[in-house]
Amino acid sequence: SNIDKGSVKWASPSNIALVKYWGKKAHQIPENPSISFTLSDCKTITEMTYIKKDNQGFSFDIYFEGEKNEAFKPKIQTFFERIEIYMPFLKDYHFKIETSNTFPHSSGIASSASGMSAIALCLMSIEKELSVPESDNVEFQDYFNQKASFLARLGSGSACRSIEGELVVWGKNESIVGSSDLYGVKFEGDVHANFKNYQDTILLVDKGEKQVSSTVGHQLMYGHPFATKRFAQAHDNLAKLKTILASGDLNAFIKIVESEALTLHAMMMTSMPYFILMKPNTLEIINKIWAFREKTDSKICFTLDAGANVHVLYPEKEKDDVLQFIKNELANYCQNGHYICDQIGHGANQI
Ligand code: PMV
Repeated sequence: SNIDKGSVKWASPSNIALVKYWGKKAHQIPENPSISFTLSDCKTITEMTYIKKDNQGFSFDIYFEGEKNEAFKPKIQTFFERIEIYMPFLKDYHFKIETSNTFPHSSGIASSASGMSAIALCLMSIEKELSVPESDNVEFQDYFNQKASFLARLGSGSACRSIEGELVVWGKNESIVGSSDLYGVKFEGDVHANFKNYQDTILLVDKGEKQVSSTVGHQLMYGHPFATKRFAQAHDNLAKLKTILASGDLNAFIKIVESEALTLHAMMMTSMPYFILMKPNTLEIINKIWAFREKTDSKICFTLDAGANVHVLYPEKEKDDVLQFIKNELANYCQNGHYICDQIGHGANQI
């Protein structure tokens, strides 16, 4: 291409898995399918400026929240190496990557999903600008989203579920037509009105560095004594969840979602080496949520990532009551009383 320079910008959200991805094969191929809610407000905003250069080799600078950042460089270098065969222009340009998060960076919220998907989308926009003018038809949009998700997967597995909303499936599964191990697909099944604007309040129990990186975490599933059963269970849970999303059965939803979260942690507790990633306050919160559900008719439930923070999920119509409960009771178990209110979102946006 003879384009010398340009600039593109995307905002891409985080996502929270309902059926968890835990365990992968080579090339970021998941051992089991997963499904997630795309979030709305927890986002990474990334601007990529590209300038033509002559020399070979990758060249890029990263600015995080306005300051030059060296810590992210190796990750991006590895990412570029992995995706170069799909993005042949990478060595022809110098990239300035300016990125920031809408959530506090020391919150313990994984920013790899939003961060990697934002970069993948920027690269797709650059690919588009460098190629012959494309008509913005439906087929092109499908190609764009699918390849963005494919690239994001090679950055961080769960990032492939952040391109679209509101529910995204990643990993081949019999009950999901068009599902793939290579990229996330928008969940096209029926979704009951109960799930409209579903809420996710993230309770920040531990804002520290992750005790176990997800790379190490996935490796724990190699030779794990319960691996085969777990991978089969994820397939079952996804098929069940598809039915539940259509029927709006919130009691059944709670059972699958909470069981998935505890199973993820059970896998970590029963691997070698073993880890406990929950904190005492994680358990306090879970018990409070269960007690609240007992004494009210609330459909509040929790899910967890590979850490101590708790995602509290609940229907929009319960928002006032649940936020009151969180403020009065659950916030006491959060670091500095800190929590983030979010809800299910529609996917990434070009800015
Ligand atoms: O995308 P990774 O490699 O950081 O893995 C994330 C895995 C979990 O967040 C624990 C579960 C999931 O499906 O998002």
